[in-house]
Amino acid sequence: MRTLEWDDEKLELLLIDQRLLPDQFEIFVCRTYQDVVVAIRDMIVRGAPAIGAAAAFGMALAVCRPETGTSDDLHALLRRAAGDLLASRPTAVNLAWGVQRMLKVADDAALTLSDISQRLIAEAKRIAEEDVETNKRMAVHGAALIQDGDTIIHHCNTGSLATVDWGTALGVIRMAHENGKRVHVLVDETRPRLQGARLTAWELEQYRIPYEIICDNAAGYFLRTGRAQKVFFGADRVAANGDVANKVGSYMLALAAHANDVPVFSVFPTTTVDLNLEHGDLIPIEERDCSEVLNIQIDGKPVTPKGAKARNPAFDVTPNHLLTALVTEKGVIYPPFWQNLPRTILET
Ligand code: MRU
Repeated sequence: MRTLEWDDEKLELLLIDQRLLPDQFEIFVCRTYQDVVVAIRDMIVRGAPAIGAAAAFGMALAVCRPETGTSDDLHALLRRAAGDLLASRPTAVNLAWGVQRMLKVADDAALTLSDISQRLIAEAKRIAEEDVETNKRMAVHGAALIQDGDTIIHHCNTGSLATVDWGTALGVIRMAHENGKRVHVLVDETRPRLQGARLTAWELEQYRIPYEIICDNAAGYFLRTGRAQKVFFGADRVAANGDVANKVGSYMLALAAHANDVPVFSVFPTTTVDLNLEHGDLIPIEERDCSEVLNIQIDGKPVTPKGAKARNPAFDVTPNHLLTALVTEKGVIYPPFWQNLPRTILET
């Protein structure tokens, strides 16, 4: 199944529970928008485009079972749902984009009460379908950047699970593989939630793409010794000048790649670009609970002393000068990004 699916009969959103993979494959069922808030906050669903689409279905869930109510009640309910969904995770701008798009549909004053829920469900489904098409277009553009025989370092999970289907950076790698190019992926394990070791490796097993998991701090070794030819990652929010916020560790990886003349590519749909923000320092960075960093065990025993403290920023910002090119569904964008990124986004 896709990362998220809508059940038209039961009016439910079904999510692959990504907390449990790869050990268990279970479905988390959302019957209310509050279920979607929990799913996004607890990372049952994660990855910028996937949470954008999930939030859109969350908006539909907020009004698809109205007991009673006037149009005013529904609009108040939608505004509350929008606020709660927006607060669930702050960095990925796709979330705000999905919610805003749904609010726009509901704002049409000509709609009757019964119309609104149908329209919102239809719009959320459209967002989900568009995501898959967009990813495939990005994959075609990005795959042209990969040479036969490349070893690629990949950070976090940017595959089908991070989107509705297919993926961003991992979708590019998958397309190159399906086009017959021999690729080898060095999968950053991606501390602390291990999206690389758990989710990217699980996907690569299914696509039969050769890979090896590496500790995040091993990337420098592979880059400096010429054992990796490219770095690919996704993005959660991209500022107007091309600074990229992505999973924490992306910045260090880009620094090490840049120092060793290895090209770095960030792959994202244009819905991940926030032209309201001039540069990356303005991007809000989520800081998650310290337990994610501290709860490590070796041989069944905790490794950190009782009372240990930690910091847990979930994302960091890679400044644009460390990036070789940006891959979107509209094509590959090269520097100067401050000029070429807004131009590409705004052109119709
Ligand atoms: O915390 P996560 O797992 O939601 O972070 C995901 C990432 O950082 C991805 O790289 C990003 O969303 C882009 S890939 C679609």
